[in-house]
Amino acid sequence: MTDHNQYRTPRALCRLDELSDPGSKGFVDGANGILVVRQGTDVFVYENRCPHRGIPLEWVPDQFLDSSGRLIQCATHGALFLPESGECVAGPCSGASLRKLASYVQSGVVWLGKAG
Ligand code: FES
Repeated sequence: MTDHNQYRTPRALCRLDELSDPGSKGFVDGANGILVVRQGTDVFVYENRCPHRGIPLEWVPDQFLDSSGRLIQCATHGALFLPESGECVAGPCSGASLRKLASYVQSGVVWLGKAG
């Protein structure tokens, strides 16, 4: 599996204004999935892999948030994760975490990788 945090060259994922607020969007990077969550001016990027079973979180494309829009939700067994840390706060993998990927927003664009 690719280690996204090892990217030397940041990769543009999308424009910030392509994301609803709150909102989420999925991306494919080779064999790996990535999810982006927006809450206001905050953007968080995670590997799209539930720590419970190691499968993608979503059933419906780009839908990674619960009905409140405040938590990331796994569609399979309902685990809930904090967007800011990726920690599972309810469900079968409570205490485990999504794998956070380095990201930043610059000039209205969400970048995967570390700012130079
Ligand atoms: S696979 Fe995500 S909660 Fe079970």
